[in-house]
Parts: sequence; C-alpha cells; structure tokens
Amino acid sequence: MNELERFQSEVSERIESYHKDDAFRKLALEWTKESLLRKYVYNFSWLGRPIIQAPQDVLAIQEIIWRTRPDLIIETGIAHGGSLILSASILELIGSASGHVVGVDIDIRRHNREAIEDHPLSRRITLIEGSSVDPDIIGQVAAIASGYDRVMVVLDSNHTHEHVLAELQGYAPLVSAGCYLVVFDTFVEDMPPGFFSDRPWDVGNNPKTAVHEFLKGNADFVIDNEAEDRLMITSAPNGFLRRL
Ligand SMILES: C[S@@+](CC[C@H](N)C(=O)[O-])C[C@H]1O[C@@H](n2cnc3c(N)ncnc32)[C@H](O)[C@@H]1O
Repeated sequence: MNELERFQSEVSERIESYHKDDAFRKLALEWTKESLLRKYVYNFSWLGRPIIQAPQDVLAIQEIIWRTRPDLIIETGIAHGGSLILSASILELIGSASGHVVGVDIDIRRHNREAIEDHPLSRRITLIEGSSVDPDIIGQVAAIASGYDRVMVVLDSNHTHEHVLAELQGYAPLVSAGCYLVVFDTFVEDMPPGFFSDRPWDVGNNPKTAVHEFLKGNADFVIDNEAEDRLMITSAPNGFLRRL
C-alpha cells in the first residue's frame, strides 16, 4: 500500500466509524437543528451569488462533480442562483468543454435573473421559469438533456412529499448511470414535528419520505450512505442517490 492508498484507507475507516457513532450523529443533528433556528444556511455566497446551502453540502457537490463528471446538471430551485453558479464553476474548473447547467424555478426574480445573466459563468447556464413538476417544463428540460451524455440532477425547490415525488418521477429518468440525483432538505424528517411551522412540509411530508417512496419502485437508484457519513452535517441525509 503506498502513502496515498494508506491515506484513503484511513479516510474510509474514519467515515465508517462515524456511521456507528451515535453520540457524534446526535450532536450533528442537534447542531443542524440549532443552525436552522438561526438561519445559518443563508450566510454564504458562491462567486458572488448567495447560495442557500450548508458549506458541507457545497463541498459534497464539488466532490460528486469531480468524481462523476456530468456534462449537464439540472437543478430545481434557483433562488439567488448560488447553487447554479457553484455547479457551473466546478464544470468550468474540471475543464468540461460542453458542461452546462439548467435551472428551473417557479419565480425567477428580475434582479436574480439579471445577476445570473451578467455573471462570468452565465454562458454555461440556462434559466427556465415555471413549476418544476409542470409536464411542459419537464419536457423542455428533457429535450435539453437529450443532447448530453452524463446528466446529474439536484432537487431543491418545494420540499413537500407530493412535489418532490413528482420531481423524482419527472427528472430521475434523465439521470445517467453512475451519476447522482441529489435531493435536498431531506432533514425535515429528522427535526421535531412542527419545526417548520411556516412551511407546508413537516415530519411525514418532506423530501425524505418522497425519496423512500420513490426507491420502493426504482431499484436502479441507491442511497449513497457514505456521502452523508462523510459530511455528518448535511441538508440531504438519504438524499444522495446514485444511479446504478
Ligand atoms: C431553497 S430555494 C433554492 C436554493 C438554491 N438551490 C440555492 O442553493 O441557492 C427554493 C426555490 O424553489 C423555488 N420553488 C418553489 N416552488 C417551486 C416549484 N413548484 N417549481 C420550481 N421552483 C420552485 C422557490 O421559488 C425558491 O427560489
């Protein structure tokens, strides 16, 4: 075993140990809960655009893109555009010649659209306004996806069970073998009931329940547990799905 292999093996062992480390897991969950109460995920930006993600998940997206080399990344839920810019920037850095990002949002505010369109990475981004579960919108995205070889999908829009399940049914078929389907805000299921009192999602009605229902009928996707064990703090527990 050379030095790099030894290093990788130590990383793997450490990540495996976290999986069984109930005290550490409990602490991570408690931290997540407290950070949500304090709106921590709204504190960050990526290359100038606000990104509504935990920094750990930003790192995870970078690792996934580097490892799986998608040439198209479809994202639902644009907000200020930070996650689109993140994906576009990593495609740029890995030297993907045709690498492109499609963002879908039901409401692209004018100032957000202008800032995304003025961004140095805008040539890699297509914005589509409409509901991510509208069959016409899914059709538009599928038409774009048909021109690419390796497609990754990130779902981060409305976080109700019904909506995410419909997104999974609409967009999962577009994901290429070996690529990822990332479902954010699955952590709603792990918070106390009523925690998101101003939102329609709650325990029993959220992206994680949608993922589990989707997986019952879709054996070609598996949850990458290693991704969440590595992160410990993530908005996507059980939400990193890999297509076999
Ligand atoms: C959490 S924000 C997205 C954050 C963004 N991915 C990021 O990391 O910065 C959720 C977005 O989903 C959008 N949204 C809500 N319902 C939607 C729907 N039915 N279809 C598409 N987008 C929707 C909202 O307008 C909002 O911009």
